[in-house]
Amino acid sequence: MASTFEWLYSDIVKDHFLNPRNVLNDEEKFQADGEGLTGNIKCGDEMLFLIKVDKAKGIITDCRWKTYGCASAIASTSVLSEMVKGMTLEEAYKVSPRDIEKRLGSLPEHKIHCSVLGDKALRAAIDDYYRKNGLENKITKKEVHIVCQCMNVTDDEIENAVLEGARTYIELQEKTKLGTVCGKCKDEATTLLNHYIETHFGGKTQ
Ligand code: FES
Repeated sequence: MASTFEWLYSDIVKDHFLNPRNVLNDEEKFQADGEGLTGNIKCGDEMLFLIKVDKAKGIITDCRWKTYGCASAIASTSVLSEMVKGMTLEEAYKVSPRDIEKRLGSLPEHKIHCSVLGDKALRAAIDDYYRKNGLENKITKKEVHIVCQCMNVTDDEIENAVLEGARTYIELQEKTKLGTVCGKCKDEATTLLNHYIETHFGGKTQ
């Protein structure tokens, strides 16, 4: 690859971008037990994630993925594909973009949203597996609402950020990256921040 531009990425990101693991090779006949396809219009990306499942144990034994996304989406999904092998379906469902980011070392601020593609496609693949195997009752039905359209941050993630310690709008931004593009979500995010702090801790933002 060209090395004429300055990398903004960690060595781990570089390694996964240049040598992505578990990429779907069009030639191979990968027999998937679950398939998930997702796209992020703002990113212009699409992501396909395929899983093989040990049905007796409910464990992901193998996976493949394919994207037309950017370096961050490629590196994030490559590392995700290594993380989820050997996990139960329930464990894999809970892997978050921040878990992926921790494994990668870090991503440039404006690229963190790219890491949501892989984990969304993975969750879609797990739901697809549940659907195909008569396990619809395991599909997470929680209705989530996107508060920050630019960074794809949901009310559920705001609640998690509060549970993880966010008490101010700045801390919420640090944890979720919401409000870092157009800023239109600030009022709704602040209302929700207050609501979740009140609900879980009986207090207000600082
Ligand atoms: S909607 Fe949140 S930054 Fe644009």
